[in-house]
Amino acid sequence: MEVNFSEKSVLVTGAGGSIGRVLVNSLMKNGATVYAVDSSDKSLKNLEAEIGGNGKLQTILSDLQGDAVCENVVVDIPKLHGLVHLAGIFEPDEMIVGDTEAVFDPTIQANLRNIYSLFIACKPLLLRSDCSRVILTSSIAFNRGAYLHTAYSAAKGGVVGFMRSLARREAPKILVNAVAPGVIDSPMPADMIAKRGIENVLAQIPLGRLGRVSEISGVIEFLLGPNASYVTGQLINADGGLSNN
Ligand SMILES: NC(=O)c1ccc[n+]([C@@H]2O[C@H](COP(=O)([O-])OP(=O)(O)OC[C@H]3O[C@@H](n4cnc5c(N)ncnc54)[C@H](O)[C@@H]3O)[C@@H](O)[C@H]2O)c1
Repeated sequence: MEVNFSEKSVLVTGAGGSIGRVLVNSLMKNGATVYAVDSSDKSLKNLEAEIGGNGKLQTILSDLQGDAVCENVVVDIPKLHGLVHLAGIFEPDEMIVGDTEAVFDPTIQANLRNIYSLFIACKPLLLRSDCSRVILTSSIAFNRGAYLHTAYSAAKGGVVGFMRSLARREAPKILVNAVAPGVIDSPMPADMIAKRGIENVLAQIPLGRLGRVSEISGVIEFLLGPNASYVTGQLINADGGLSNN
């Protein structure tokens, strides 16, 4: 389903990643101005090369660490219709001494803490649009508890609690929802799939296949669009039925 996003501006974090790239391409094809934020310079350069010289794409290199950094990210943005938070890292933990600093803290920072600061910075810009949207990214890891990924599962659960509370606080002006992808055909779950074996992973998924990145970006576009104007505080599981299994 194509939605017209002309005259609309959307800030996307993790924009240089697998899902981000497909989302940014589609939003721009449908007329949006996109502020693409990522901590990887290389990913942003690849995104710019993919999109070509389109003045409606602005890339911003940032790791979104803390309020001041996030204020700086939005300093030149006049107005936003949407804030999409895809930035995240998926790190295994062994729960041994040292993992609190080496895995837990950076995982909470990259998946959860950053959106707290970024929302504070973006709120005045979102309030300049009617019925603006915030879309966050949780994970099947929250629903089922990803094996050997305790910190990541905690962070993605934190995203859901944050989303539900924020949806109440910001209603009716800003609608806040989240998508929880299952196992998507992309580099992020590749190590986990290699360890568990693809047959074992697919056997757990009622639809019997991995998800496509466009099947996540499509849900995000729905949540950004006019047909989602009565949806807030919801977690949409896009996981081929895995969370029901
Ligand atoms: N791919 C999957 O199977 C899957 C499954 C469940 C959930 N998710 C979630 O969906 C989101 C997108 O996943 P993806 O597959 O596109 O991952 P990806 O690794 O391809 O992209 C994530 C992007 O976030 C960026 N990033 C990481 N930390 C950052 C930070 N602190 N500040 C700014 N940018 C940062 C990375 O540079 C990368 O470009 C993530 O939040 C992920 O946890 C993905």
